[in-house]
Amino acid sequence: MYFPLFLSLLWAKATSHIYPPPELQIVTSSGIISGKYNNTAETVRGFIGIPYAEPPVGSLRWTPPLPKLSHNLVDASSFSNPCAQVYIYSDHAIWNVLPYKIWNKANMSEDCLYMNIWAPSAKRRHQKREKKAAVMMFIHGGSFFSGSGSVGYYDGTYLVQDNEDIIVVTFNYRLTVFGYPNSPDLDPKNQNFGLLDQVSKSIHQKEVR
Ligand SMILES: *[C@@H]1O[C@H](CO)[C@@H](O)[C@H](O)[C@H]1NC(C)=O
Ligand SMILES: *[C@@H]1O[C@H](CO)[C@@H](O)[C@H](O)[C@H]1NC(C)=O
Repeated sequence: MYFPLFLSLLWAKATSHIYPPPELQIVTSSGIISGKYNNTAETVRGFIGIPYAEPPVGSLRWTPPLPKLSHNLVDASSFSNPCAQVYIYSDHAIWNVLPYKIWNKANMSEDCLYMNIWAPSAKRRHQKREKKAAVMMFIHGGSFFSGSGSVGYYDGTYLVQDNEDIIVVTFNYRLTVFGYPNSPDLDPKNQNFGLLDQVSKSIHQKEVR
């Protein structure tokens, strides 16, 4: 008699690990994005490492960003690699007195066109039913030859945790010769790929509510 109940409890327990809460599964026009809570209080959702363009590699290397048209489920729980870049700061530079790393050059890659979104939990959003959230999109610095949206002190968790109605976005864009090849062999009117990357992504941030 108790068997079905026991089974269903067991089932619920097993599946709760398999299926994340719906607010972490965002259905976008190009596929499902599966995020995570980015703080222990579960008041901030993080969608980290969302591809916003086809990887600009191979035949797409010297082209403007092509929108990511479709993808399978994206595991948006960890940062992508930073774009290929120049790293000129020695380990003895003044920056090393800071309590955090201001550059992130680990595993740099040409496959780097990813964005990161931090949004309030659905519960917080529902408390403010009619109010829309402001989107704060931060373009990282680095003189067009370094930097990335994954540097630790750009982490949007804290801004979203401590403020109402704000969604924070950071992203990578092509740097150095990959962003600004300035080559006579390419169309001179269409070479600022890094800037084109910056203006290209609009789909995903509209879809996180
Ligand atoms: C948010 O998630 C990113 C990616 O997993 C992680 O590196 C970062 O430390 C997290 N932030 C906090 C405040 O836990
Ligand atoms: C760099 O890549 C290696 C191999 O995949 C991995 O073990 C390491 O954690 C990565 N480092 C960072 C900072 O992502």
